[in-house]
Amino acid sequence: MKNYCAIIAITLSTAMPALAAENHGGDVVYTKAVKTVLFSHKLHVEEKKLSCDLCHARNFVMQSLKAQENDDFTMKSMMNGKYCGACHNGIMAFASNTRCGDCHTGVKRGGA
Ligand code: HEC
Ligand code: HEC
Ligand code: HEC
Repeated sequence: MKNYCAIIAITLSTAMPALAAENHGGDVVYTKAVKTVLFSHKLHVEEKKLSCDLCHARNFVMQSLKAQENDDFTMKSMMNGKYCGACHNGIMAFASNTRCGDCHTGVKRGGA
């Protein structure tokens, strides 16, 4: 099913270049280690205009909930510049040790 979606996305972007910006992975809501983090493609790709490569060349594969299978998908890794922390480092985007509630959408700030 996931491969099927990716094939549709690729087909659409070839057939309809005008819509290419909208062909991304949508919303990803992590379920491990804690069940609260929302990643939005709409925000990162459409609003912030980040290219696919910035995330998909190195930090993330194009399959949702893959990263959470790794034992090191933790805040410690983010602080060390991995995963979301490649950008959420206080330079390119707000730091991973701040604004907890903006990523952990199900939890109030300080409550994660
Ligand atoms: C700012 C980072 C970022 C950018 C930019 C980005 N992605 Fe993603 N993408 C992710 C993350 C994070 C995941 C989830 C990976 C995981 O959970 O292991 C993901 C997952 C996906 C998936 C899988 C969705 C699913 O339901 O399985 C597709 C397809 C995808 N991205 C396509 C794209 C395309 C095409 C672009 C460019 C138009 C793009 N992404 C840009 C971070 C990004
Ligand atoms: C390629 C760089 C990059 C990666 C990787 C990345 N982000 Fe972002 N993110 C940004 C930028 C740039 C912004 C906008 C600047 C800011 O808000 O500081 C942003 C903004 C956000 C926001 C703020 C939304 C708002 O309403 O202000 C959230 C939440 C967020 N990212 C979550 C995540 C999560 C969760 C991950 C990992 C799964 C992730 N990001 C990975 C670059 C990235
Ligand atoms: C840039 C996005 C982002 C920010 C900001 C962020 N987190 Fe996270 N956090 C994640 C992601 C992604 C995971 C791994 C997926 C999951 O557990 O849902 C995670 C996992 C966690 C975990 C479980 C794994 C571990 O490291 O023990 C805790 C606890 C946690 N975060 C606490 C916090 C606290 C406290 C803050 C604020 C000081 C914070 N997070 C800020 C994205 C973020």
